[in-house]
Amino acid sequence: MRYEKIKNQLFIDNRNRFALEMKQNTIAILTSNDVKHTNADDVMGFAQNADLFYLSGIDQEETILIVYPDAYKKENREILFVKETNEQIKIWDGEKLTKEQASEISGVKRVEWLHDFEKILQLMAFEADGFYLGHNEHIKRVTKEQQTQQDRMILWCKEKYPLHQYHRVAKITRALRPVKSEIEVALMEKAVAISATSFTRVLKNCKPSINEYELEAELAYNLIKSGASRHAFKPIVASGKNACALHYNTNDAVCQDGDMVLLDFGVCYANYNSDTTRCFPVNGTFSERQKEIYISVLHCLKEGSKLLKPGVLPSEYEKQMASLVEIQLIKLGLLNADEVASQDPEKPLYKKYFMHGTAHHIGLDVHDVGLYSRPLEEGMVLTCEPGIYIPEEGVGCRLENDYLITNEGNRNLTEAIPIEIEAIEAIMNHG
Ligand code: GLY
Ligand code: MN
Ligand code: MN
Repeated sequence: MRYEKIKNQLFIDNRNRFALEMKQNTIAILTSNDVKHTNADDVMGFAQNADLFYLSGIDQEETILIVYPDAYKKENREILFVKETNEQIKIWDGEKLTKEQASEISGVKRVEWLHDFEKILQLMAFEADGFYLGHNEHIKRVTKEQQTQQDRMILWCKEKYPLHQYHRVAKITRALRPVKSEIEVALMEKAVAISATSFTRVLKNCKPSINEYELEAELAYNLIKSGASRHAFKPIVASGKNACALHYNTNDAVCQDGDMVLLDFGVCYANYNSDTTRCFPVNGTFSERQKEIYISVLHCLKEGSKLLKPGVLPSEYEKQMASLVEIQLIKLGLLNADEVASQDPEKPLYKKYFMHGTAHHIGLDVHDVGLYSRPLEEGMVLTCEPGIYIPEEGVGCRLENDYLITNEGNRNLTEAIPIEIEAIEAIMNHG
């Protein structure tokens, strides 16, 4: 493993908290993600299912976890299934987890081979009244075109056990995962630390006429060298007007002298993510206009992030952040104060220059689970990411930090990533 071993108490505690939320006499079945193939036998890489990882710490494909707190036999209360290795797998792919290793990582005492899953489940299925099954409940990304391991488990289970009651694993994990434990915060801090050195490396290597993908390469070099599992998402390295396309990530343009670069990137360490955005001038010195825009966005970040504290509703925070940005857009001469005063509230004018939300939970997923209707609580980690995008001026600026909600307000986990204009210019010009 690339990352330091995680204390299995994290997963034991998570399972206990999960079990407390389950309905009486039900079995939860959690599956791993698929290894996705490209065309032939090559693969796109593997990212573990976040709920399975949260409850087991197992980072291997073809894994199933059963949690059955009310099982009559104690040995059936938690069972982990991993795939049995063989000579062929050893020769082609290398080592897979032994039962002992899987037990040590997860804290689950009973580990079985995956090929025994159906047989073992059958022995306890009719003792239970219902099943909890996993499903991707992301509001925009659920797609029937992509059948997942979870989808196949739902089909299989409902066909085999049609008269059981069915419940959603995601409803429980969505309630638990937003509140991070100390171990989880420490893992996110590790991801942020790698982000900080990666960003500094990018700054030191940026110069006029460099290609965006060369900056991406500096990022990737530092990330992998530092033990990150992978990018948290494909990084956005957007110079000039490219920064106005919110999800631009082709990263294949030449960075022009006088332009600004927007770098939105994240580090995935031990399956925990960071997500930060910084902007910097290609030639190492902000122009007067770039400074004005940058200072406006930085002001919104500093003021807006103060609103991230216990008891605040995310939707209320978004409204207040929109007001902050609106004021800056008037100051920058992009909106007219009188027109703003008489605008249609359903079609606010700021949306022309600021068109996205500015906070999301972050953790095992970059856009982590959590309901917008739930007030913030101590232990939650959210991004704050205001931006101003002006295509007619060929400039887009977003600044993004990650904040841990505390009873005192919040703590900026991304403090070490340079953000002040002077700090960025100093690194770019003096190393
Ligand atoms: N990079 C995705 C986001 O900032 O939410
Ligand atoms: Mn974000
Ligand atoms: Mn981001």
